[in-house]
Amino acid sequence: MDLKQQIAADLAEARQRTHELLAPVEDERLTTQYDMLMSPPVWDYAHIGVFEELWLVQRLSGAPPIDEELLHTYNAIETPRVARGRRKLLDRPSAATYLAEVRRRTLALLEEIEFDSSDPLVRDGFVYDLILQHEHQHDETILQTLQLTPGRYRERLPDLPGGRVVEPDMVYVPAGRYPIGSDSHEPYDNEHPCHETELSAFWIDRFPVSNGEYLRFIAHGSYEREELWSVDGWEWRSIFGIQAPEYWTQSDEGWCSSRFGHLLPVDPRLPVSHVSWFEADAYARWAGKRLPTELEWEVAAAWDPVAARCRRYPWGEDAPTPELANLDQRLLSPAPVGAYPGGASALGCEQMLGDVWEWTSSDFLPYAGFRAFPYPEYSEPFFGSEFKVLRGASWATRPRVARNTFRNWDSRLKRQIFAGFRCASDGGAA
Ligand SMILES: [Fe+2]
Repeated sequence: MDLKQQIAADLAEARQRTHELLAPVEDERLTTQYDMLMSPPVWDYAHIGVFEELWLVQRLSGAPPIDEELLHTYNAIETPRVARGRRKLLDRPSAATYLAEVRRRTLALLEEIEFDSSDPLVRDGFVYDLILQHEHQHDETILQTLQLTPGRYRERLPDLPGGRVVEPDMVYVPAGRYPIGSDSHEPYDNEHPCHETELSAFWIDRFPVSNGEYLRFIAHGSYEREELWSVDGWEWRSIFGIQAPEYWTQSDEGWCSSRFGHLLPVDPRLPVSHVSWFEADAYARWAGKRLPTELEWEVAAAWDPVAARCRRYPWGEDAPTPELANLDQRLLSPAPVGAYPGGASALGCEQMLGDVWEWTSSDFLPYAGFRAFPYPEYSEPFFGSEFKVLRGASWATRPRVARNTFRNWDSRLKRQIFAGFRCASDGGAA
C-alpha cells in the first residue's frame, strides 16, 4: 500500500470509529450539554469536519467555505465550551452530510497532492496526520462526555484482563543528560525540538497508583488534612466539598464508582482515575513522595540505557498491540495494575502508555527552540502556569496519538479526563 492508499484507509477507519462511538448515543444525549465542562457530543462531531475543512481542504485548495457560519460555531476558541449548548447546532443527519462533503473534498485533494512538496504542511502527509490525530483526540473527548452524562452508554461493558498481583515498587533512574522531545515531522509543535536535559537521580513508581492505594489515602482522613494539600488544592477541596475521586459514591457496602452509567464496587486493582492534579499532589505528599516532572516521566518511559537512545514507545519501536497496552477504547476502563508486563519500559516502568493519563508536576511550557506549527492556537495560548502537563495516554486514546513524547495538558481541577498518576522521589543511591 502506498502512502496515499494508507492515508485513505486511515481516514476511513478514523471516521468509522467516530460513527461507532456515536451510534449508541440517542439524539437527546447527542445534542444536550449536561455539564459546562464538556460540549454536546454533536459539537465535537461537527467540529471534526470543520477542522478538516479549515486545515486541509481550504489550505490545500483555497476553496471558499462550504458554510461560513459553521466555521465560527465549531471553532473551539470563538465558541468556548460554556457557550456551545446555547448555540444552534447541527443535528446528527445534517452534521453527517457536512462531514461527508468535507471528506469527499479531502479525498479528491489526496488524488492530486504531491507529498514531496516544499510546503511543510504537506510534506510526508503531515496535514493528513494532523487531521487524523485531531479526530482521534475528539473521540476521546466524546467518551469523557459520555462518561459524564446520566444514563448508560452501553448495556454491557467489556470484561477486563486479569492482571497479576504486584507489590508497589519504585524504579531508580541515575543522574545524567537525557534527550527529551522529538524532531520527527509529525504533530505536534509542543513536542519539538528534541533537546538534551540534565536530570538529577530520581525514583519513580513502577506502576500507576491503584484504587486500593488511593482507598488507604482516603481512609487516613487525607481529604480533611489541610497539611497534605497545596493552598489552592485545599481551597478547591473545601469549596466543592470533595471527598473522593469523581464518579465515586459511598454506600453501606463501601465505595462504588460509575462506569458509563453502571454502578460498580471500586476495584482496588485498577489504577485510580478521575482525580484532579490537586488530589494527585496531596496523595504524593501523603505517601512521602512527589509527582514526577514531565521530563522525569519521559526519561522513565523512553530511555534505553543499553542502546543509549530513546524509544518511541516504552517497549520499543513496534506499534501498540492489545498485549502491550490498554489503548484504543477497547475496555472502556483502565486495566488492573500489572496487566501489561510486556509493555514495560527499558527502565522497568509499566503501563506508562494506556490506562490513564498521568499528572506531572510540570507547568505546560514551550521547550527551548519551540516554533508554533502549523497554527499558533494549538499550543501557544496554553503555555504558562495555568495548565499542568499530563503524560502517557489513557484507555480511550487511539494508538496513533500515543507516544512517549506526547504532551497533554489541563487545568489542575479537571477530573472528567481519564487521568491518574504515579509518584516519584529524589534520588540518592540505588
Ligand atoms: Fe479540536
